[in-house]
Order: sequence, then C-alpha cells, then structure tokens
Amino acid sequence: MKILSYPPRMAYILAFFALVNIAVSCTPSTPEAEMPILVENEGRYALLVDGEPFFVFGGQSANSSTWPNMLPRVWSAIESMHANTLEIPIYWEQFEPEPGKYDYSIIQMVLDQARERDVRLVLLWFATWKNGSNHYMPQWMKNDAKKYPNLMNKEGRYVDSPSPHATAAMEADAGAFTEFMRYLKKADPGHTVIMVQVQNEPGSWYSVRDYCPAAQQLFEQPVPEALLKAEVLEQLNIPAGARGTWEEVFGKDADEYFHAWHVASYIEYVAAAGKAVNPLPMFVNAALRDPLTNPPATHYESGGPTDNVIPIWKAAAPSIDIVAPDIYLRGDETVLKVIELYARGDNALMVPEVGDHAKYLYKVIEKGIGFASFGIDTRWGGAAGDRPNPLAEDYKLLAPMAGKLAQWSFEGRIQSVVEPEEGDPSQRINLGDWEAVIRFGKGQRLDLLQDQQPQNRNGKAMIIKLDENEFLAVGTTCRFTFNPIGKNEGKNWQYLKVMEGYYEKGEFQMIRILNGDQTDWGGPYIGEIPTLLHFTLGVRE
Ligand code: DGJ
Repeated sequence: MKILSYPPRMAYILAFFALVNIAVSCTPSTPEAEMPILVENEGRYALLVDGEPFFVFGGQSANSSTWPNMLPRVWSAIESMHANTLEIPIYWEQFEPEPGKYDYSIIQMVLDQARERDVRLVLLWFATWKNGSNHYMPQWMKNDAKKYPNLMNKEGRYVDSPSPHATAAMEADAGAFTEFMRYLKKADPGHTVIMVQVQNEPGSWYSVRDYCPAAQQLFEQPVPEALLKAEVLEQLNIPAGARGTWEEVFGKDADEYFHAWHVASYIEYVAAAGKAVNPLPMFVNAALRDPLTNPPATHYESGGPTDNVIPIWKAAAPSIDIVAPDIYLRGDETVLKVIELYARGDNALMVPEVGDHAKYLYKVIEKGIGFASFGIDTRWGGAAGDRPNPLAEDYKLLAPMAGKLAQWSFEGRIQSVVEPEEGDPSQRINLGDWEAVIRFGKGQRLDLLQDQQPQNRNGKAMIIKLDENEFLAVGTTCRFTFNPIGKNEGKNWQYLKVMEGYYEKGEFQMIRILNGDQTDWGGPYIGEIPTLLHFTLGVRE
C-alpha cells in the first residue's frame, strides 16, 4: 500500500492499521485530527479522513456563491441533498485584494459554518485559471497585462487565457496559495477541509498554446529530460529513447503537449509551495475532451489534464495527487469510458463536478473516492418548491455508510452496472459462486417487465460481496435475482434471508425481512427510491 500526498513514513504505518481495523467514518472535525491522506493498494485508492476511509458524497456551489448572503442557500441545498461534503471556491481576487495583503474572512466564515453542520469541505482555489481564463486574478494583476500576460495565438493576438510562461503571475499565485494553505493549517486543525482543488479547469480555449516570442523560443528547444522517461513515452505511444525538439519528438501533438507540460509545471510550482506548508491532498479538475473520437486540440480546452495528456501531467506535477474529470458529457459509452480513463493505477478517481449524472454514482463508488453535483444552490436549490437534486435519495441512503463504502471499494468488493440505453435491459455480475442478474425497468413483477412502458433508462445497481454467500445490494428501478455458478453450478438454491435496511454508526439496521410477494417473483424489486438489501443465499444439497 502506498500513501500519497507527502506522507510522513509514520503516517503510512498508522494508516495501514487504521485500514485493517475500520470502524465508522464521517465523524465531525475534532480540535486536532489526523491529516487527510490518500492511500493506494494494488491500484485502488481510499481517502482517509480522521484516519478512516471516507467517500465524498459531495455538492459543489455555483461559482459566485462564496459570499455571506449566498451561503444560506448553499447550506440548504447541501442539507436537502444529504451531502457529506461541500465543494466551494475561494477567490484569489477576494483573498488578496492588494499585493501581499490577505483577507481571511471568507475562508473563516466557510470553515465555521461547515463545522456547525458537520459537513466536510473541499476548497477550490480559483486563481490563475478558471475555465481557462484569468477572471479570478486580483484586479491589480488584471490592470498590469504586461507583467501578467495572457497567451498569444498563432495570429499574434492575445486571447482570454493566462500564459503559463508568465513567471510573475506564477510566483504571485504561489505566494497567495501558500498563504491560503498556511492559514488553513492554523485555522483548521480538525481538518474540516479534506482536499484542495488547485485552479479550476486550467488550460486554454481559443489557442492550443502560447505563440508569443518567448514561448516560441522554448518550443524550439529540446523536450525536457523529465518528460522523456521511458514509461511516459510508452503511454504516449512514442518510441523509447526519442529525443529532440517538441515537434521532432511529438509531431502533430507537439503544440498541445508543450502547452500541457507548461500549464502542469506552473501548477506544480503553485501546489508544491502550498503543500510545503500544509500537505493536504490536492487535485486539478479537467474540462474533458470526447474520449471516444480523439478530436483535435482546437475542439476542447488545450493544456488541461484531458485523458490523452494524463501522463504529461503526472510527470510535470507530482504534487497534484489526482487529475479529476468534470463530467458533463452524456451517454453511457462516453461516461463509462471517462471513468475508465481516470481510474488509473497512478490516479484515484475523483469526480468533482457532474451535471444530471446520478446514473453513474455507483460506478464511481466502485472505482473512486468521491462524486459531486455541480451548482447545487442554483440548479436544484433546496428551498421549498425547488426541484430536488436527483442525487438526494441516493445520498440519504449512502452518505451514512460513506466509510463502509470507501473501505469496500478499497478492498475491491464492489461491482456496479447501469441500465443499458437500449436493447436487453438486464446486466450480470459475477460474484464467484453466484451470478447476480439485474433486470432493469419499472414494474412490480418479473412477467410484467416484458411489456413495460418505455422509460428513461436511468437505472443503476451495485453489489457488495461481504462473504461467499452474503451480499449487500443497492439499486434503482431494477429487480435482483441470482444464479448458482462456480462450485454451486447446477444446484438448487433459495434465499435464506433477504433484509431491507440501512446503515447507522457503521452497523446494518434491519427495517424488515422480505419474503412472499417481495421475493417470489424472481427476487426483490426496487423502484425509483434506492433501497439497500442484504442477501443471504443458500444451496440445497
Ligand atoms: C465547469 C466549471 O469547472 C464550473 O466552475 C462551471 O463553470 C461549470 N463548468 C459550468 O456550469
């Protein structure tokens, strides 16, 4: 098992034992608590909060909501969706209104209010880059475009995106970020803040890279040795030993790779400075490209951690623990591909922003450490009459078991499926000596499912293998049944016990035992409201 995010060796050992003896998670901050850390084992990750695995059931505020008069609505949205974590921006322009003068009031306010509600925080450092632009740089920087330049496109015009070659901006950002992290260290010994996002969707629209004379000169130099390691080149499909200028080594991808390297290196400079004073786990979020069609870099935000340049980001920015996909793309094939591409042996899957994507929550629980819905206070609110957040029912059931789920995910016990968009509505999960068959669709009886009304095909299910014959299952609009396979193949079987329940304080609480009509039609059916079932199966020898 590896521990990431600048762990002292001792933390490594402690965390290992913490993982072996998992108790409950999600406890509120205490005055002094263990530093949140990311641990890895055989390519799977867990985020440890207070020394125990924790899954982020998150909501992100809208961009302009970190202000005293806006926060009540944010908290009401967090409460009504049952989230355990709020992701919320901290604005550089607010934090450093004059060079070297800092205003901690907003950060303190967010910390205080989160603690009152026992909600964890992921703070988003909106600084040099926000969706590829410099819009959160303080005004005193925006007024000095010579010192803090934007990048120049191929035609020689400045575009609305900061240059990653602007050393003065990079130093100013690192200075402010360090002060922000130093303040957190002092003001947050209980670690209400569990992770920090450094920048927001960095990269650039409108130009694949900076073409200003200084950048051009760099582009014509040899590629830095640090990027030419065999394992990096292999992932980029470049022959080992390749050397030369960016164009010589990377051909048609040279402009984008050059930009990705420099954006990532700039952010590394900022992140490393902050981590040196406060080593919280850090991530950078990506505005995605279509993962299926390999589009040209002019069609998406170039230089950010899109799937094709993850190895470049990993080489340039070791202080960034995670590159994280913001998922707004739609369609099962596309979304499942994104999940696959970002859940890597060298990268924990954290999904800091989604739109209306509740369908994929279980897949991210299976493979990752966190999931958050974007714009909770403006898209779904929480005020009376607002449309409820589509994740609310799932979070209500699952957030109280966030620690258990994180632990099971880390141990590889969870498997999930989503309802196919077309065709046969069933999915199968191999559980060793049992196969779970999950048949999606609305309807109370298996026979009625055959001619059901068309529906939106948003069903989802996950199964947690607790023991050989014991499983937990959660789902929406689906029916669970099982087939004996492996050493049970061909044997008669039956449900020994099926319980519906929930988790509290780390323990399963039974609501009722399902039997009769609730299990006789092939297995229990779950409607729109997610339900937690505990199965014990048996063969009749
Ligand atoms: C992704 C960005 O990261 C968010 O800050 C926000 O701008 C959304 N896109 C758009 O709603």
